[in-house]
Amino acid sequence: MSYAPLCRRTFLQHMATMGVLSALPSSVLAQIITRQPPRSPFDSNSTAEEVTAGLDLSGLTIAITGANSGLGYETMRVLALRGAHIIGIARTQAKADEACASIQGETTPLFLDLADWDSVVRCAEIIRAMNIPLDGLITNAGIMALPELERVNGVEKQFAVNHLGHFILINQLCEPVLAAPQGRFTMLSSVAHRRADKGIEFDNLDGSQHYDPWNAYGVSKLANALCARELAARISHTDATANSVHPGVIGTNLLQYLPAWQRWGAKYIGWMFLKSVEEGAATTCYVATSPELVDVRGFYFADCNVDKGETPYMQDDAMAAQLWQVSEELTRDYLPPKPVI
Ligand SMILES: NC(=O)c1ccc[n+]([C@@H]2O[C@H](COP(=O)([O-])OP(=O)(O)OC[C@H]3O[C@@H](n4cnc5c(N)ncnc54)[C@H](OP(=O)(O)O)[C@@H]3O)[C@@H](O)[C@H]2O)c1
Repeated sequence: MSYAPLCRRTFLQHMATMGVLSALPSSVLAQIITRQPPRSPFDSNSTAEEVTAGLDLSGLTIAITGANSGLGYETMRVLALRGAHIIGIARTQAKADEACASIQGETTPLFLDLADWDSVVRCAEIIRAMNIPLDGLITNAGIMALPELERVNGVEKQFAVNHLGHFILINQLCEPVLAAPQGRFTMLSSVAHRRADKGIEFDNLDGSQHYDPWNAYGVSKLANALCARELAARISHTDATANSVHPGVIGTNLLQYLPAWQRWGAKYIGWMFLKSVEEGAATTCYVATSPELVDVRGFYFADCNVDKGETPYMQDDAMAAQLWQVSEELTRDYLPPKPVI
């Protein structure tokens, strides 16, 4: 695919010519070169096929976690349909093989378990060994509202799987994404971030002070959005971007831990108010591929447009920076020896 001309690079060249660039502090520069996203013509009824209609993604390689189910599967199917080579990552090789074999297009099935961080590192090593730029990494896999407190490596499981496992993958794959002409990190967050009513509670990451299934899910989804925000700032001197997404509310396997009556409701009356899977994958596909978003970074999108999020924590840069630092400490043994970002 040929993206629109790199306006940011052109802009920087003009600035350099004028001799202004070197005089600006990097934080100011990052603000200037972060373009406000344009309003898209799409909305909550748009489907992944509609938002990518007419795009030719051939030549691009995009990796996605959770590719065997729900939104990840539909995202993979549509991006492959548009010509991208998809690295479809599932929790087991058999699930990845089956999902990839069932769609049209070029795919490479791989596996990792976000609760087994050695497997995350191994998966990233295989991708790096392919020695190709990675035009996109979509961190889509997730779990929601585990009824009882569970831990992975001493950390509450939803935070460990939804955020920390992906944090390792992002760091491990930064190099190939930065090597792409315009690599994009797209992270699945959720409107459920508002359940994190005290933000990221750094003193309760193991759940030992209190545990509520929805609060813990909300904290993990706030972490996904803040991680995208902090990553966007850290790579603002490159052509790569990072953004997060709320896909809508969709009756997928994500509901598996909810009480039976809620699952029943989603299945039989959910069609009246929930998005379809085709609609649910639209915002991810739009953010991961739209030529309109070449130099748009650090935003949270819903219904294919920027959304402010519903709590001030979504714009809390100090919390985002602290999250990055704490995540580094918690996953230190699984990060590249020399940090890329
Ligand atoms: N559906 C919604 O209403 C909604 C709303 C807001 C945000 N989201 C977000 O959208 C994303 C996709 O959710 P979905 O609705 O498509 O749910 P889904 O159908 O349940 O898909 C979740 C995917 O994550 C994978 N996964 C779970 N635990 C994993 C682990 N430890 N290691 C590797 N992969 C793991 C699952 O693998 P298995 O199949 O092997 O379990 C599955 O492929 C999630 O991040 C979710 O938070 C969804």
